[in-house]
Amino acid sequence: MAVSSTVPLLLTLTVLCCLLPTPLFLSAAAEKTQLAIEVCKNTTDFNFCRQSIYSDPRAPTADRVVLASITFTNAYFNATDTRDYIASQIKLIGGGGNPDIIKGLKSCLGNYNEAVRAINEVLGDLNDESYYDFDKLSLDAEKNLRACENGFHGRSPITQRNVVAIKLANICYVVSKLFQYND
Ligand SMILES: *[C@@H]1O[C@H](CO)[C@@H](O)[C@H](O)[C@H]1NC(C)=O
Ligand SMILES: *[C@@H]1O[C@H](CO)[C@@H](O)[C@H](O)[C@H]1NC(C)=O
Repeated sequence: MAVSSTVPLLLTLTVLCCLLPTPLFLSAAAEKTQLAIEVCKNTTDFNFCRQSIYSDPRAPTADRVVLASITFTNAYFNATDTRDYIASQIKLIGGGGNPDIIKGLKSCLGNYNEAVRAINEVLGDLNDESYYDFDKLSLDAEKNLRACENGFHGRSPITQRNVVAIKLANICYVVSKLFQYND
């Protein structure tokens, strides 16, 4: 008697406490996942992406426009810094260095100018609230950064900088996908 009435009670309690709250808990957790984290999950290097985006205090509540502003600005400053570094290296080496390296650095300068131009175009468009071609421009930047690295045929003196710049452009590309279909 006691057993047969306890078992259904236990089953009911089990159902109530384990099944019912689960969907509520899951939906609350899903709502809390920040867009920046969702974006970083789609990049080539999650930890790098998270570190880069969360260096900006707006990251936790950022929507796609703020995220684009953060990520393209990061990419812009990084690429301009490396562009200036390349220009200074070309000056420093002058006519005296390895001709292959100088040739590589000179074409990198063109590549970085092109990448900076593409990234800057997105920043201007964001400012004008005209959300077109962000994906194309991000890919254009990334293509140029890869061309810089490949131009040295395995003897690049700026691999670390290029790897960083390529990762930043990849983050921009993932963010740009958030603008594809609804504008
Ligand atoms: C991440 O990638 C998936 C699969 O391509 C896509 O459905 C999703 O919208 C992307 N999310 C973000 C935030 O980029
Ligand atoms: C930007 O570039 C510099 C020089 O390559 C690098 O040290 C720095 O970590 C980069 N910044 C970001 C946010 O990745």
